[in-house]
Amino acid sequence: MSLIWHDKPVILGGSPILEEPVSIAKPTLPEMKKIQDEFRQIYHSGMVTNSNYVQRFEERAADYLGVKEAVCVSSCTSGLMLVLKALELTGEVIIPSFTFFASGHALLWNNLKPVFVDCLPSTYNLNHNIINEYITPNTSAIMAVHIFGNPVEIESIQRIADDNNLKVIIDSAHAIGTRYRGRLVGSFGDAEVFCLSPTKVLTAVEGGIVTTNNQELARRLRIGRDYGNPGNYDCEFPGLSARMEEFNALIGLKGLEDIEEIVAKRIRLVNIYQKNICQIPGVLFQQIDAGNTSSYKDLGIIINKDEFGLDRDKLAYALDIEGIATKKYFYPPLHQQRLYSRYQQYPLTATEYVSNNILCLPLYSHMEEKIVQDICHAIWRIYSYREEIAGISIQ
Ligand SMILES: Cc1ncc(COP(=O)(O)O)c(C=O)c1O
Repeated sequence: MSLIWHDKPVILGGSPILEEPVSIAKPTLPEMKKIQDEFRQIYHSGMVTNSNYVQRFEERAADYLGVKEAVCVSSCTSGLMLVLKALELTGEVIIPSFTFFASGHALLWNNLKPVFVDCLPSTYNLNHNIINEYITPNTSAIMAVHIFGNPVEIESIQRIADDNNLKVIIDSAHAIGTRYRGRLVGSFGDAEVFCLSPTKVLTAVEGGIVTTNNQELARRLRIGRDYGNPGNYDCEFPGLSARMEEFNALIGLKGLEDIEEIVAKRIRLVNIYQKNICQIPGVLFQQIDAGNTSSYKDLGIIINKDEFGLDRDKLAYALDIEGIATKKYFYPPLHQQRLYSRYQQYPLTATEYVSNNILCLPLYSHMEEKIVQDICHAIWRIYSYREEIAGISIQ
């Protein structure tokens, strides 16, 4: 699709390409007929939380991810909070500013100081090349994030951590089904934490899974999700009420059966986007390094205004009028939010560039390929009429 479109975009009075509005994400839930019998059985069993299905889900997830332990929790945020607490971390933790605020919140809840490190403008991930410069005697850990499912440069990060006696916690919220150098993420660092909320590649409606090869850490997490109570009503540490319900575990378990197919589908959809719009000047895709694959929890493109002729906000506005939802994500980055601005110590130039120009396009696992083609068509025609659109002010 390397042509110039002559049909006008809706913002200039043209007709919509899509019959119905497109959302940015939609949950892919297992078919009702696949879960209804077991759902009923759980309902009537009287064991509705943290029981057989949670255990089965944990075993299946650990098996799939190739890791010794998987611990189900109520959310990724509670999982991150518990990992930091269970590891008894103190002082400073290195973290990207280009992430979702839950990564940062887990530090603040544990009285840990975030030290923001810039991202790479190509992969949007923590810039592993500069981490060394930010380590101080107070640093206790590195928290990396697989942004949109694109794996961070784990081996380099682990090497730096080992050289400096630091823990590595990976916020893998986006990354179930992601492969780093051919190996599924889930068994790297001291712990990884996945998110199972509705917009994720695998959903349990809500929930999280912590994975680790450290069995003592897993034991503390199992206690930690239950207030810190080891079973004798004498709490080992102040934990959370962060168990997973059986209903959620059932949905997660069924979804897990299809995870490889789901990720393959998302990669196919992104390839269609890429094939159709990568020739548009100023449209840049997230770089996935050779040997890696992304789960593509999100498809975030960067709009270079000078080349595209419109900035990210104008494109988002024009797409919205076409009935195509987009998301400026993560915008603003953590260090530009009121909770976190006081922690910025160093320039975060790439983070600001990515955050100011990123636009996430619609992507969900059961999306029809035709919808992706139509969205690409809409982007092409907006680009074709960029000069006229540039003169329109955004309300
Ligand atoms: C990078 C990242 N970390 C953590 C979370 C928090 O996940 P949850 O809503 O399960 O707490 C999210 C949620 O989208 C996220 O994107």
